[in-house]
Amino acid sequence: MATSLLTIRQLDVAGLTDLLDHATYLKERRARGIPETRLAGKTLAMVFEKPSLRTRLSFEVAMSELGGQGLYIRGEEVGLGVREEVRDVARVLGRYVQGIMARVFKHSTVAGLAEHAGVPVINGLCDQHHPCQILADLLTIREHLGTLKDLNVVFVGDGNNVARSLAQACIITGSRFVLARPAGYGFSAADQADFGAAWGSQVVEIDDPQRAVAGAHVLYTDVWTSMGQESEKAARLRDFQGYQINESLLAKAPGAKVMHCLPAHRNEEITDFGVENPNSIIFDQAENRLHAQKAVLSRLMG
Ligand code: CP
Ligand code: NVA
Repeated sequence: MATSLLTIRQLDVAGLTDLLDHATYLKERRARGIPETRLAGKTLAMVFEKPSLRTRLSFEVAMSELGGQGLYIRGEEVGLGVREEVRDVARVLGRYVQGIMARVFKHSTVAGLAEHAGVPVINGLCDQHHPCQILADLLTIREHLGTLKDLNVVFVGDGNNVARSLAQACIITGSRFVLARPAGYGFSAADQADFGAAWGSQVVEIDDPQRAVAGAHVLYTDVWTSMGQESEKAARLRDFQGYQINESLLAKAPGAKVMHCLPAHRNEEITDFGVENPNSIIFDQAENRLHAQKAVLSRLMG
């Protein structure tokens, strides 16, 4: 695997499978109370330009359980590209720590850190990608459905960072990915060209969620208004009406597992029924952030 994790697309099936297998191994060892302190004495700098519950906590707990330390750094304090150039911050951090995890507004910021830090950099979400989330999601799907191949994965909502990383994962693992979205919220032409060039198939986009979900094994959604898009909230609330995972949409996809990266905006993209029904595996996804990230940290910093 590469020395940094910036996107899902950089992985191949072997790299992806190795991470998931290692995550499963670490999860089982943890359940049996066997310590795995392979990062003893190592420090992960965790830079956050945006809020977080799962990403911050799971990385911090992961580092602690692996015998190392996670150091939380507020983006406002560092002022990446504002107080100091990204390349200078990168080089300084690289002198102190053995790895960097960054949640940033622009992909170019995390890419700049990776280019200059001299230590592994992990993308903890940017405007384009959320690879750590998707590794946890793949682990969760594999646990519940026993495979990652030949599945119908339907994403209802915004063709944003989570959807893009999930689409990339499905194409790598050999599953079908469908995006049900209103016009204007799909993948860009550049994304579609990239999907087509890399894997020989563009991602299917449909504007009718009722039609899109038929035959789904997995139904995934994410917020309509992502962090950094708050000024568009009113327009998005209007444009995404009907793209909600609720009882009536789930009736069209009986048995489909319901997934959400969280945080959920209940009664926008998903209802209480969507979150709480017996096919929801949302909180398993949240737990698996810990195990999947431990695997990434062990492979990159171990
Ligand atoms: N899913 C996810 O990344 O959650 P946080 O924003 O709370 O980290
Ligand atoms: N698309 C969401 C994901 C949050 C985990 C966002 O970027 O805010």
